[in-house]
Amino acid sequence: MSKGKYYITTAIAYTSKKPHIGNSYEIVLTDAIARFKRLQGYDVFFCTGTDEHGQKIEEQAKAEGITPKQHVDKIAGEIKDICDNLNTTYDHFIRTTDDYHENAVQKIFKKLYEQGDIYKSSYEGHYCVPCESFFTESQLKDGKCPDCGSEVKLAKEEAYFLKLSKYQKQLEEHIENNPDFIYPESRKKEMLNNFIKPGLQDLCVSRTSFKWGIPVTFDDKHVIYVWIDALSNYITALGYDPDGSTEKYNKYWPADVHIVGKDIIRFHTIYWPIMLMALGEPLPKQVYGHPWLLFGTDKMSKSKGNVIYADELTARFGVDAVRYYLLSEMPHATDGSISYETIIERYNSDLANTLGNLVNRTVAMINKYFGGTLTNNTTCDEIDTSFKEDILSALPVMEKAFDDFRIADAVEAVIGSAKRSNKYIDETAPWALAKDEANKDRLSTVLYNLVEAIRIIAVELTPFMPDTAKAILTQINCTADTYDSILSFGHAPLCNKVGEATPLFNRIDAAVMLSEIEKEIKEKAVAAQNAAEIAGVAKIGIEDFAKVDLRVAEIVNCEPVKKAKKLLKLTVFDGNSNRTVASGIAKWYKPDELIGKKIILVSNLKPAVLCGIESQGMILAADCSEDDVKVIFVDGIPAGAKVR
Ligand code: MSP
Repeated sequence: MSKGKYYITTAIAYTSKKPHIGNSYEIVLTDAIARFKRLQGYDVFFCTGTDEHGQKIEEQAKAEGITPKQHVDKIAGEIKDICDNLNTTYDHFIRTTDDYHENAVQKIFKKLYEQGDIYKSSYEGHYCVPCESFFTESQLKDGKCPDCGSEVKLAKEEAYFLKLSKYQKQLEEHIENNPDFIYPESRKKEMLNNFIKPGLQDLCVSRTSFKWGIPVTFDDKHVIYVWIDALSNYITALGYDPDGSTEKYNKYWPADVHIVGKDIIRFHTIYWPIMLMALGEPLPKQVYGHPWLLFGTDKMSKSKGNVIYADELTARFGVDAVRYYLLSEMPHATDGSISYETIIERYNSDLANTLGNLVNRTVAMINKYFGGTLTNNTTCDEIDTSFKEDILSALPVMEKAFDDFRIADAVEAVIGSAKRSNKYIDETAPWALAKDEANKDRLSTVLYNLVEAIRIIAVELTPFMPDTAKAILTQINCTADTYDSILSFGHAPLCNKVGEATPLFNRIDAAVMLSEIEKEIKEKAVAAQNAAEIAGVAKIGIEDFAKVDLRVAEIVNCEPVKKAKKLLKLTVFDGNSNRTVASGIAKWYKPDELIGKKIILVSNLKPAVLCGIESQGMILAADCSEDDVKVIFVDGIPAGAKVR
């Protein structure tokens, strides 16, 4: 029987660029909670999606030479792929460019205008394009945007405003009377003391400076401010309509929890509740502001080559290992950090050693001592009773941890059960029992207890590692996977033949993998620098290029230069005569490797003397990485041929 409805949402992601692993953390976190609630018997509706309007997107699309819709279609597709790749079980993926959403947002805006909660005025201030926000002089930090540090420009706009001030008292009371509304506690204090109590100013909720937004129906110069558009997703996704909502809306709203990052708690606990109050709709029960995931101590950036994307991580470690890492490593209130070292460490210790070994050893022993089928579980020693109690004690710990959004504690409780089970193996020493036929019943019981503990662990792992949970249940040949089946011990059937003992996680050689990764990061940094250089290089006309005379030439001799270790002295045949070229490639090539090869020569370069050698040209080579240069060899072209 259902325990009732549970509506949970993530923030909707901006479709400006492909999200990195930090952005993807939220969907995994929310998915784990949704899965756990379903396991507990709730009728869960889990919503995620994309936030697709705004000036930034309009400008980005323009720079790419495509329409905003083409741009957001591409990125929304990538975001959805990431959610699917991470095996998340969202029930609805909303895009703010969906028709039903746009229509509902227009109606919401009109309703608020008609009832006087939105009014027309004008706005003058410093405008930050990336944040799409106006700031007053005093809010600026060193003359720049206080949120993102970008340059701001002075702008004046005719605009519509939402009367936040009218609802200030009501909001304050709601927060005071509902202590769990803003979570964790520290965020609540921050909102009340820093934002609400000092006084709310009415919010500018329309823009005329760009077009890529939902138009105001009764004043088409204006598009609706992105936050009004974006926040409404939580109700439009369910079919909210000011003229009459769907059954789904009536069933699931209000949200049980909005899961959002710490940076946008303000929007969710001030603007959003006030919008809902003005609409006469109930407020969400809770907003959980989670901390951020950072990369080591370093910020992730493309130019450093260290941006980590979810799909790259899952390709390397597997989906469940990535989910496990994110959920077990992230603290509940302070920022967490991701590093390849800690991913590998956790993978080896928790997944390969603790969990993998437990399943592997148990299944292998059942196959070895009983041909795969246990015969009975009739004995019960004190050691067994305490073992069973310990295994059953994990679930209440998990439940409390989920209620408090301390997901890492819930993970720890399950891994604790796996550790406890490994200890039980050491305590009962099945290999010693197996030596004497008289211990057969005892041995069968011990292994049965282990299978049952493994089954309970597998079911408890479902929210974190759904595929691994399935693989474990398949290996021990159990189908009992309900919440009720893990409340007490003994639901694994006897006499089910277990499968082959196949390792769930193979140990990773940390040194090998880390050096591979380091090489890749370097290559990516070079690629990013090259891309930036290409984008920034000044354009030349064809007449400039025509001044450079490029010829295929053959290297007929090559020798080191005693006085200059970096140089090689080449003799090249340019189709007409031999000439000398000094080239700084000694680090990458030995003279013998070059003799007989054809290269591209800049033949009309003014001669220059390098370490006593008169160089009469230059050969072309490519910078492959910071420390890797490759000469461009050409085959099958006669010396002297012009390259153009
Ligand atoms: N579009 C807005 C949200 C509108 S909700 C009505 C937005 N989008 S976002 O793409 O920038 O962020 C999406 C979510 O990811 C936010 O909750 C944000 O806090 C979160 N994160 C962004 N970077 C993050 C990390 N490095 N770590 C964890 N979460 C991060 O804000």
